[in-house]
Amino acid sequence: MTQTFDAYSGAYGDAVQSSVSFSGLPHSFFLRAKVNVLRDEMAARLGPGAGGRALDAGCGVGAMHPYLAGLFDELHGVDVSHDSIAQARVNQPDVSYQAYDGVRLPYADGRFDVVLTVCVVHHVLPAQWAAYVAELRRVARPGGLVCVIEHNPFNPLTRLAVLRCPFDADAVLLRAGRAKALLRGAGLRNVRASHFLLFPFDARPLRALERWLSAAPLGAQYMAVGTA
Ligand SMILES: C[S@@+](CC[C@H](N)C(=O)[O-])C[C@H]1O[C@@H](n2cnc3c(N)ncnc32)[C@H](O)[C@@H]1O
Repeated sequence: MTQTFDAYSGAYGDAVQSSVSFSGLPHSFFLRAKVNVLRDEMAARLGPGAGGRALDAGCGVGAMHPYLAGLFDELHGVDVSHDSIAQARVNQPDVSYQAYDGVRLPYADGRFDVVLTVCVVHHVLPAQWAAYVAELRRVARPGGLVCVIEHNPFNPLTRLAVLRCPFDADAVLLRAGRAKALLRGAGLRNVRASHFLLFPFDARPLRALERWLSAAPLGAQYMAVGTA
């Protein structure tokens, strides 16, 4: 698995873009949508302006990090792919990056206000999902958030994008209910999931409608979140 993403460290964005090109949307549209959902959830659970210290686990080359600017006081990224981390350091010198062994995150217990993992769990072996989420929980402070953003396997366009994506050959998609069960199993509280990326436009009224429909597994992705 490490080798897979090492091979894409210089071409990650291009590979994602070609897998979603049928939508006519740029990769940045999807990255912004994730950041919007995260920002809304943080405001609801932590209050406005309470970003603090964040970890993006499985950050790859840090494609989302430019869009997180200003949301956190400190941003850290960690990944099993050494080449992706090397590329991330070049791309975003202001973010602190580390490579690790995929078993124990190289951070102290309770270090982060927000722990995020985006499109990573489907690349982890299912037998290791619980241990992976337990590690995310370990490094979140009491009252902090653990957020898992994943592909929605019930969305046919998501299925198509995964089929077209060269590094998704090993992907085992998990539905929101499974992600919520993993978060609860790791001891997180107030666990919920919301689906997003239902519409291919970023318009405020559509985002409101999307939020209203978010419990239904319609959008291309979902965020499962719990409080530590
Ligand atoms: C599809 S990429 C997503 C990258 C980034 N989160 C994003 O959304 O642009 C999946 C990433 O998960 C990483 N990964 C796979 N297993 C991991 C593990 N056990 N711990 C941390 N990262 C892992 C891969 O190396 C890869 O960078």
